[in-house]
Amino acid sequence: MSQYHIKNLEEYFQVYRKSVREPEAFWGEIAEEHFQWKKPWEKVLDWDFTKPEVQWFQGAKLNITENCIDRHLHTRADKTAILFEPNNPDEAAQPITYRQLHERVCQFANVLKEKGISKGDRVCIYLPMIPELAISVLACARIGAIHSVVFAGFSATALATRVNDASCKMMITSDGSYRGAKTIDLKGIVDEALESCSCVENVLVAKRINSDIYMKKGRDYWLQPLLDAAHKNCTPEVMDAEDPLFILYTSGSTGQPKGMVHSTGGYMVYSAYTFKNIFQYQENDVYWCTADIGWITGHSYIVYGPLANGATTVMFEGVPTYPDWGRFWQIVEKHKINQFYTAPTAIRALAKENLSHVEKYDLSSLKVLGTVGEPINEEAWHWYNDNIGKKNSPIVDTWWQTETGGIMISPIPFATPTIPTFATLPLPGIQPCLMNEQGTELDGNPAHGRLCIKFPWPSMARTIWGNHRRYKDTYFTAFENKYFTGDGALRDQTGYYRITGRVDDVIIVSGHNLGTAPIEDAINEHPAVAESAVVGFPHDIKGNALYGYVILKETGEGRDHDNLRSEINQLITERIGPIAKLNKIQFTSGLPKTRSGKIMRRILRKIACDEGDNLGDISTLLNPEIVEQIKKEVV
Ligand code: PRX
Repeated sequence: MSQYHIKNLEEYFQVYRKSVREPEAFWGEIAEEHFQWKKPWEKVLDWDFTKPEVQWFQGAKLNITENCIDRHLHTRADKTAILFEPNNPDEAAQPITYRQLHERVCQFANVLKEKGISKGDRVCIYLPMIPELAISVLACARIGAIHSVVFAGFSATALATRVNDASCKMMITSDGSYRGAKTIDLKGIVDEALESCSCVENVLVAKRINSDIYMKKGRDYWLQPLLDAAHKNCTPEVMDAEDPLFILYTSGSTGQPKGMVHSTGGYMVYSAYTFKNIFQYQENDVYWCTADIGWITGHSYIVYGPLANGATTVMFEGVPTYPDWGRFWQIVEKHKINQFYTAPTAIRALAKENLSHVEKYDLSSLKVLGTVGEPINEEAWHWYNDNIGKKNSPIVDTWWQTETGGIMISPIPFATPTIPTFATLPLPGIQPCLMNEQGTELDGNPAHGRLCIKFPWPSMARTIWGNHRRYKDTYFTAFENKYFTGDGALRDQTGYYRITGRVDDVIIVSGHNLGTAPIEDAINEHPAVAESAVVGFPHDIKGNALYGYVILKETGEGRDHDNLRSEINQLITERIGPIAKLNKIQFTSGLPKTRSGKIMRRILRKIACDEGDNLGDISTLLNPEIVEQIKKEVV
């Protein structure tokens, strides 16, 4: 990425200006110079946000795995591509070179083909952070199958919903997973999910914890013997730049998760370009992103972005707390990590522990620190800067979304001066704007409004799987001709952006996007519950935690509230996963509603945030009297 590899602020502005003035020339040059195409494009960009329809590198042909693996074999065959660090520090780390990765991806791809998977088929991957996860993702891409990775912390019900939504033909999982001192029965969860998924024909099972599991005859296969028997070469499928590469689900304001569909060519170009600039990766660096590949951060910045740059990318199976709170820093020292990318929630949790967990280790290899997933508070930023970066490693506060495919607003290390809590400036090619609620763009600085993007970028999601209408309604109707992010943002005097949080019914808990609707649906399934409303409130470590207001049916009244609370959380765990459990549950006799019957979450949010004395005008409510009562009952 020499041509657009930004090294100082002046270069940033030059490159940015070009990217806005001549976007097609800009992306066309990057795409041509840095990637292998089997056939060039006829047109760089075609777009219409009213439909919405966006096409990048129209007519071009490629295979992303050739760009991520094969082309490095001439120069980097023996370089480590993926460095696997197991959950247990006593188990040896496993480096996988580019040559080995090629072989393993080809073998896996051949197994997929042998089991009837072909171009366009959907394959669900429900795996822990073991090499098979990255390899299966790449194997799908090798043959043009569309991968749908589901984070292995989701419940059987949540898994089944996602499998059915995309009509996945195959499931790839493992016998179980390690998580700190615990093991999790993943195959049991898959078996339960598949009871309601008739679309899945085969299940491939990786062996990880050697547990004794049920294998359904004719459906379930151990992976290893199939891999051992598979051919070590697999011709990459020729894909159109606009062919879907993967589906990844994200929460929305209604119950059904949204299967965001990402394209092949544009996604590759943007994830690779941003990786190079944001982490300033150099040839012998070791890069570590602590995310799970079950989220977009893992897709773009553990797998595709780093590998397209021929980087060494670390995959960590474990958790920051096992065997103790020093685990992250022990890994940094052990592998001499140069770029470290994590979430504010992890930083806050680590900052609460004794500094001796950090001081024991040599962190001098670090050059760039990153954060993603939620706003980082000032205190956490300083702790990260002082104790981990020793004030020597710039912090890149990267703002982006599952939908955007890659980082959109972020400092470029050593070029953009950082300010705590500011994601700073848009990356080249990204044209953000702030809108007021009336739909007018806010010119001038400072400004505070709803964050939109007014021009397409290569890695934007193209649609929601099976529901283009919802894609349009969710992202392109609130503001004419603009992509609406769902976030609020502030732009300061100098043009720096600071993300102020979601303005819709999505709550970010420990960096995970959670829609209130599916959680309420789960609560309402409890036989004693009549109605519920979930809001967020600030939490020291999680950023936000969940507060549920629950109205009981007559039959539920008189029941022990603590028991009910744990039953409700149990239901949420079963329907969604433990990440969506409520921190507080308040039983109440009513919820504040508008005259049209909508729950006024703004009021509930204020009460949950202990700002109940400052509710503004509530006289338009259908039932203003309920507000005082709710305030009195706060837990
Ligand atoms: O609200 C923003 C927040 O996370 C949302 C996207 O979540 P998800 O699709 O799960 O992707 C997370 C990883 C890319 C955004 O709408 N968010 C993400 N990064 C930041 C952030 N909020 C503030 N600062 C960030 N750096």
